[in-house]
Amino acid sequence: MVLSAKGQVLKNEPAQPGIYEMTIAAPEIAEQAMPGQFVMVRPIYRSFEPFLNRPFGISDIDTVKGTINILYIVVGKGTDLMSEMQQGDDVFLIGPVGNGFTMVSKGKRAALVAGGMGIAPLLPLAKTLQEKGITAYGLMGASKGAALVGTDNWQENGVQVQIATDDGSAGQKGFVTALLEDLLSKEKIDFIYCCGPTPMMARTVEIAEKYGVPIEVSLEKRMGCGIGVCMGCICKLKQADGSVKQYRVCYDGPVFRGEEVVFDD
Ligand SMILES: Cc1cc2nc3c(=O)[nH]c(=O)nc-3n(C[C@H](O)[C@H](O)[C@H](O)COP(=O)(O)OP(=O)(O)OC[C@H]3O[C@@H](n4cnc5c(N)ncnc54)[C@H](O)[C@@H]3O)c2cc1C
Ligand code: FES
Repeated sequence: MVLSAKGQVLKNEPAQPGIYEMTIAAPEIAEQAMPGQFVMVRPIYRSFEPFLNRPFGISDIDTVKGTINILYIVVGKGTDLMSEMQQGDDVFLIGPVGNGFTMVSKGKRAALVAGGMGIAPLLPLAKTLQEKGITAYGLMGASKGAALVGTDNWQENGVQVQIATDDGSAGQKGFVTALLEDLLSKEKIDFIYCCGPTPMMARTVEIAEKYGVPIEVSLEKRMGCGIGVCMGCICKLKQADGSVKQYRVCYDGPVFRGEEVVFDD
């Protein structure tokens, strides 16, 4: 059930320049949240701007403490306001929203492929995969070493991490998709989870199809309501009969089977 709740900021600190991690006390949402779901966020009591709530993947779920985390990069008005929030501030949340990732069964081997802030929903997933005894390989791509976040968390959750950066300042120089090709040519992988920029996800799906590995992607679209009403977050999915239908990322997703998605933007 999607809840609207007032959360309280417990921590809001830079993880890298321009990238923040916020811990929010929101026990009802933490209780229900699953890896791959997200929350709509509004910094309340500060301003009526921005008018619309902003969507963020849940990057950690702690049911014991009753907290969730979000990991966000400052790109505009909403995230700028969020970066100024202090411990004790109230924040308005709608969540947990969306479907979340499908869990592979015990004994299987999974690859997590992240681009930039796309790592956020793949962090609680790593924790759950470890709890279920699933071997996980984490492939992380970023523009540069100073933009890397979350890989230490992956390692703490037993993920075997490899990094690619555009400028070669950390890990292998080049795209994360090259790491995936290399991994799939050497190891048997049963399932791929992916989140990142659209061209990166499109290429990851091509590679997954080449090696015959099922894949789920978590899509990002600009959102209005976040609860399936405004039709502002449409994506296109291929149907079995060859036609293409429109779906709402917030309500039907954000996680979809990779081979079904039409990556046209
Ligand atoms: C399901 C979902 C999960 C997300 N999870 C995260 C996350 O974990 N961490 C994170 O940093 N960001 C995440 N985002 C993106 C985040 O919602 C936007 O960065 C945020 O809404 C920007 O708000 P703003 O007011 O700061 O920027 P705006 O002033 O609204 O926009 C600034 C710039 O960002 C672009 N932008 C805004 N929203 C999006 C979007 N959804 N996709 C692509 N470009 C966008 C705008 O086109 C503009 O160029 C997620 C988006 C979705 C849909
Ligand atoms: S954001 Fe309104 S329908 Fe998805």
